[in-house]
Amino acid sequence: MHDEEEHIEAESSDGFDGDSAYAGSTSGSLTETLASAIARGVEEHGRTYAAYGNEGMSQVGIRVWYTNGIDRMADAYPSAEVLGLDIAPVQPQWVPPNCRFEIDDIEMPWTLDADSFDFIHARDLLLSVRDWPKLIQQSYDHIKPGGYLELQCVWPKLKCDDGSAPRESGLMEFSRNALDASQVLGVPLSACVDYAEWMTATGFEDVTEKRMKMPSSPWPKDKRMKLIGAFEMHNLLRGISGMSLRMFNKAYGWSQEQIELFLVKVRQDIAHLKYHTYFEFVIVHGRKPGGPTTDLPDAPLLQTPTTHN
Ligand SMILES: C[S@@+](CC[C@H](N)C(=O)[O-])C[C@H]1O[C@@H](n2cnc3c(N)ncnc32)[C@H](O)[C@@H]1O
Repeated sequence: MHDEEEHIEAESSDGFDGDSAYAGSTSGSLTETLASAIARGVEEHGRTYAAYGNEGMSQVGIRVWYTNGIDRMADAYPSAEVLGLDIAPVQPQWVPPNCRFEIDDIEMPWTLDADSFDFIHARDLLLSVRDWPKLIQQSYDHIKPGGYLELQCVWPKLKCDDGSAPRESGLMEFSRNALDASQVLGVPLSACVDYAEWMTATGFEDVTEKRMKMPSSPWPKDKRMKLIGAFEMHNLLRGISGMSLRMFNKAYGWSQEQIELFLVKVRQDIAHLKYHTYFEFVIVHGRKPGGPTTDLPDAPLLQTPTTHN
């Protein structure tokens, strides 16, 4: 259960330049070339995917996600020892001394000590995890009594509160297809809405779910929401090809040409500011019973609290 969030007010149509005002400003690549065979990964459709693991759908090289996460946590908590795990070599080059990264598949049995972590966090494991209850159980086993698990993920189910985006608009269609394809592949993109239930079933206490609206383009009037929408639109325009090629090819057998053709309309509609669409970002955390209660780290993203019952 979660409460409805506040309605986001849209900018009036005088406030921006029509349909695709931001569409042209998204060039540039953050992808790094790395030396070893593992680092090179697997090439498909001109894209690089993690070189080993369970045929995961991981896209390699989006360093900004990482640098916005684990290493900043280490900076904020200098007395903590912070370990970052990823199946792909996406580690930032410069990290604080109390932070280290290892390449590992988190769905495999962990070789880490049981009851040894104060806090385990995972974000945006999209198209990555086949067995969430197993991963949550493994996390539980490795968290100290009194410690926390936090799972965060964008839910790629596109929503619209004011009817401005028709069902057949490109991004709406993309969202429906992506949710369906992920089911076909056994890595559902809607898993995040079940995190709270799975965590409670595993034995976590005080499981809390928060959902935040994330506009898909800079359509809102509010400056902060507009900025979030601009980032999200940039993210979508840059990342949609990498996400789609493998997903739709493996789920539906679509060719690269079919997928790129489908994405033409999707890209156009992403930039239509008259469509007041948004995704929800889901944040769930819970405490392992027993032991002294550890203070949950402040997460700057957390707002609009809602409680899971
Ligand atoms: C969308 S990115 C999110 C990165 C980071 N958590 C963040 O929020 O900034 C997903 C990451 O999960 C990693 N990943 C996917 N499957 C994995 C697995 N089985 N084990 C470890 N990492 C995995 C990918 O390599 C990729 O870097």
